[in-house]
Amino acid sequence: MDILNIKVNALSANESFLRSTVGAYCTRTNPSIETISDIKTAISEAVTNAIVHGYSGDIKGIIDLSAKIEDNVLYVTISDYGKGISNVEQALQDFYTTKADEERSGLGFTIMQSFMDTLEVSSILGEGTSVKMSKRLVG
Ligand SMILES: Nc1ncnc2c1ncn2[C@@H]1O[C@H](COP(=O)(O)OP(=O)(O)O)[C@@H](O)[C@H]1O
Ligand SMILES: [Mg+2]
Repeated sequence: MDILNIKVNALSANESFLRSTVGAYCTRTNPSIETISDIKTAISEAVTNAIVHGYSGDIKGIIDLSAKIEDNVLYVTISDYGKGISNVEQALQDFYTTKADEERSGLGFTIMQSFMDTLEVSSILGEGTSVKMSKRLVG
């Protein structure tokens, strides 16, 4: 067993904190620099979404990150308890954004999908969102 669990407030400083922490956590398996970089980018997108969309900038919001490495595969879940997504299928589409006015590209989920091996999004309106991703680290 090799697990990681972190609970933080929805502060933008925690975006880089979680990004770096998960990157550091993965180095124990000796992944390539590119693999680490892909993972950090995906974490960054998921945490930013929780802060910006889930909590709309309310720093009292809580973000839970849990991760494990099993057989050289990273499994990571990022959860918020914010506003939730009414239509997940639509949210996953390239360029779909509900914050176009704030210069969001609508490519966050696209990036997570292409940089990780798997992506699963579950969300309940008014209750929150969980983003589950995995990626093989070596081999
Ligand atoms: N954690 C979240 N809570 C609520 N809504 C979310 C969350 N993550 C994503 N969304 C919704 O999904 C849309 C698409 O997300 P994304 O692909 O990252 O694009 P962007 O962040 O640029 O809008 C967002 O505009 C938002 O409406
Ligand atoms: Mg986004």
